[in-house]
Amino acid sequence: LRVDASESSGQLIPQTFFGIFFEEINHAGAGGIWSELVSNRGFEAGGPNIPSNIAPWGIIGKESSVIVSTDRSSCFERNKIALKMEVLCDSKGANSCPSEGVGIYNPGFWGMNIEQGKQYKVALYVRSSGSINVSIELKASNWLQKLAATNIIASASEVSDWKKIEIVLEAKGSDSNSSLHLTTTSKGVIWFDQVSVMPLDTYKGHGFRTDLIEMMADLKPRFFRFPGGCFVEGEWLRNAFRWKETIGPWEERPGHFGDVWMYWTDDGMGYFEFLQLAEDLGTLPIWVFNNGISHQDEVDTSSVLPFVQEALDGIEFARGEANSTWGAVRFAMGHPEPFDLRYVAIGNEDCWKKNYKGNYRKFYDAIKSAYPDIKIITNCDGSSQKLDHPADLYDYHVYTSSSDMFSRGRHFDSASRSGPKAFVSEYAVTGKDAGQGSFLAALGEAGFLIGLEKNSDAIDMVSYAPLFVNTNDRRWNPDAIVFNSSNAYGTPSYWVQRFFTESSGATLHKTTLQMNSYNSIAESAISWKSSEDDKTYLRIKIVNYGAETVNIIISVDGLDPNSVKLSGSTKTVLTSKNLMDENSFKEPNKIVPTQSLLETDGGDMEVVLPPHSITSFDLLK
Ligand code: AHR
Repeated sequence: LRVDASESSGQLIPQTFFGIFFEEINHAGAGGIWSELVSNRGFEAGGPNIPSNIAPWGIIGKESSVIVSTDRSSCFERNKIALKMEVLCDSKGANSCPSEGVGIYNPGFWGMNIEQGKQYKVALYVRSSGSINVSIELKASNWLQKLAATNIIASASEVSDWKKIEIVLEAKGSDSNSSLHLTTTSKGVIWFDQVSVMPLDTYKGHGFRTDLIEMMADLKPRFFRFPGGCFVEGEWLRNAFRWKETIGPWEERPGHFGDVWMYWTDDGMGYFEFLQLAEDLGTLPIWVFNNGISHQDEVDTSSVLPFVQEALDGIEFARGEANSTWGAVRFAMGHPEPFDLRYVAIGNEDCWKKNYKGNYRKFYDAIKSAYPDIKIITNCDGSSQKLDHPADLYDYHVYTSSSDMFSRGRHFDSASRSGPKAFVSEYAVTGKDAGQGSFLAALGEAGFLIGLEKNSDAIDMVSYAPLFVNTNDRRWNPDAIVFNSSNAYGTPSYWVQRFFTESSGATLHKTTLQMNSYNSIAESAISWKSSEDDKTYLRIKIVNYGAETVNIIISVDGLDPNSVKLSGSTKTVLTSKNLMDENSFKEPNKIVPTQSLLETDGGDMEVVLPPHSITSFDLLK
């Protein structure tokens, strides 16, 4: 393998090359990266009509002691359902309540992770026909240990109308399967609404679960595509993500049922929070909005203008000055400065739909006329044929087998270099090669990414999909990061992406491979200046997709032998005994890259590539 590492022969990889696609799928957001611990906090998940379903809330106490129902008495106009609790037992006497009280509990999203020493903000709205004495407790899974508790006592006049209670509790113990209990031992009628428990310690204080966000940050993403995916489209338009319903005070957000991935989201993580997260990660947000098309229904182009206005308003919300209509709303939410929104995607996977191109033009023209600099992404694939409509980028999605993915690295060899560039916004090996995240899947993807890197003159951006799965709600396999209420691990596909963290904005170098008939190798070479030590590094990545051990000689032109000698050059390998091996909560590090020192003086290097492996060689240039 010859690597021409001289700067003059290199080609710049786009600054935005590798990023993240975040979709609300598999409870990635609600019960995932968003730290809200209460599931169905406003009791709206059962729909706007009564009687309603309050799941996963449960009732504590016998029917003879407590009757729980829902009514439409909430003080929040856009989410009217409130929970009504009629307590029939009394504080003393023959009909006395059990000592632990009667009431309701919420198990969170398959258990709340409560950690000793951490503080939790509890907020809830309460109303009653009399005085109240309610215990608020975070209990361990055995329901005996109180990890944090307090009492709210209020006179009848204080709670005759809705009253907001806010308290901070500090946990005295830990349990990743805890629940919230609201109980009383006093007779009367109490209504509850908008009950929230959030840890105070969140990523940059903005409400996100730190361990999961750090795993995202470790990928060094340059962009953040959100919030879907099919989630944006909805199975039906009435259930699509509509940004205006997801902003403003959390209690007033109506929430919605995502009918593609079949779960309720209270939209605590709404459009504002997505933009905030993109900013906190130092990435560029890419907003995918609904273009009047869902999986099952479509708005005709002749009547799509209200959708166009909704998109324009959304851009103004993100970018407008604080004195603009929607910029002022953002300002009021605590972000006076505009967000750095430079990209929008018109719809998701809709190119083949009847009204797509007609609708697209309406959006395109209106957005370009108001915001000429915004880059617009079309759903239509321009890699095999020329687009018949204007666009700055075209979306390319691929879900396939491992061997097909490996060879698809070359798909863009023949893509146009003159028209819009590609945004490979969703790729993953799926199906039987992938299981729930196999090494075989990762190996195919590694070859694919090498091919994309080498075609980075025709491609602007690349992201894996889906990023997250809550192990309790697997709607899609595989995913890059698997988590439960307290733990997380990366699948081999996640670790493959870590080989590419320095590629965005790096210089791609020419590589020439001379081999016998074995055609299972994919290789690339990049160099970049490290922001940590200001030094320039060369990284050679080689994927050995096949079953043979490969001995290879690497010669690099353009290295300074003195700096190579001085440096701690490294070799990093990702491989696995069995192709179908996966990581798991039990063995989260079964398949992770291993690093060792690389003995080299800058001259020819004789290296061994294990069968089925990804190897990177990092040298100081
Ligand atoms: O990534 C999962 C789904 O795959 C996305 O929602 C959709 O865009 C694609 O079909």
